[in-house]
Amino acid sequence: MSNQVYIFDTTLRDGEQVPGCQLTCDEKVEIAIALEALGVDVIEAGFPVSSPGDFRAVQEVSKVVQKPIICALTRANTQDIDAAVEALRYAKRPRIHTGVGASDVHIRHKFKSSRAEILELGVAAVRYAKRFVEDVEFYAEDAGRADWDFLAKMITAVIDAGATVVNIPDTTGYCLPEDYGAMIHHLKTQVPNIDRAIISVHCHNDLGMATANTIAGIQNGARQVEATINGIGERAGNASLEEVAMILKTHQKLKVHTRIHTPYLNPISQLVSERMRMPVQANKAIVGKNAFAHSSGIHQDGVLKNRENYEIIAPEEVGVASSAIILTARSGKHALRHHLERLGYACTAEKLQDLYQAFLQMADRRKDISDQDLQVLMRQCG
Ligand code: KIV
Ligand code: ZN
Repeated sequence: MSNQVYIFDTTLRDGEQVPGCQLTCDEKVEIAIALEALGVDVIEAGFPVSSPGDFRAVQEVSKVVQKPIICALTRANTQDIDAAVEALRYAKRPRIHTGVGASDVHIRHKFKSSRAEILELGVAAVRYAKRFVEDVEFYAEDAGRADWDFLAKMITAVIDAGATVVNIPDTTGYCLPEDYGAMIHHLKTQVPNIDRAIISVHCHNDLGMATANTIAGIQNGARQVEATINGIGERAGNASLEEVAMILKTHQKLKVHTRIHTPYLNPISQLVSERMRMPVQANKAIVGKNAFAHSSGIHQDGVLKNRENYEIIAPEEVGVASSAIILTARSGKHALRHHLERLGYACTAEKLQDLYQAFLQMADRRKDISDQDLQVLMRQCG
């Protein structure tokens, strides 16, 4: 099995479904260009039949992007697929992403249908899409709650119909990592033609397990990951691209790699956050404001002695200029000295002791202490 994991970015489709985060066509093109530079393998540019604006965005992204595959989402019907074909007309490497619900919940309550009919619908959609493009990805929506044997039957049938990639979404973010991994293993071992397709994982974050489930999928043989920048997406979001990329880079024992140029992760996180008007939570892994900030005395002392005491990733590796030592009332003398020296002040051990007491009084009144505050402190204690 290949040890490359393909990164399928769905920021512009699943990510953009977030209320209030809609992007203009120009913004989508701008983000697609940044995704190409980041090194993603596939860009899901939109759902063309959903609106004229999304149709145009898929078309414009297709014109501009050179290397990654451009993918368009459809439901399992000819009208959706026709719209996708038209929107992808200028794509150098087009892919249609079609599919249908696979769980009994979806089959009964969403489609009001039966397993047999749904399977036929999925197969027919893949066959229809294959008339226009070679690369067809099939999604088995809500696979996370589907019956595994039915899922295996469905996946066998769509691969026979020509699907090149089979997407196994945990649409509702329900699965435990162990169970999700076991489901991928089941497909890998029970689907007789599975070697003719790539298994893709698409995990939602309703229980905060999207990234963990994604990794469990890879450990069990999935070779495509569907993720978004900043983990943005429906409800609690999708697996976060930056987390997955850095887990695969950090844990070499997984013996897989991606083409992601990791120093671009922070710049693209900021770009997406700004364009979507969706702030990144401060403690977000990899791209949060505090991901490389140290504020307690014990940690600051450790980082100043050797960064690796409290950091498993070098900040530059993900496009952050440096770690930050934040001065708060929990900071120690080492951190205070570090900042004073950075500002050009040298002080003896006794002087530092006095300054530290004055600093603590000031810090108790504020959330954090700026360079300007330190200058005031130096004047007062001069
Ligand atoms: O979560 C999901 O199941 C999806 C599919 C449409 C791929 O986004
Ligand atoms: Zn999704």
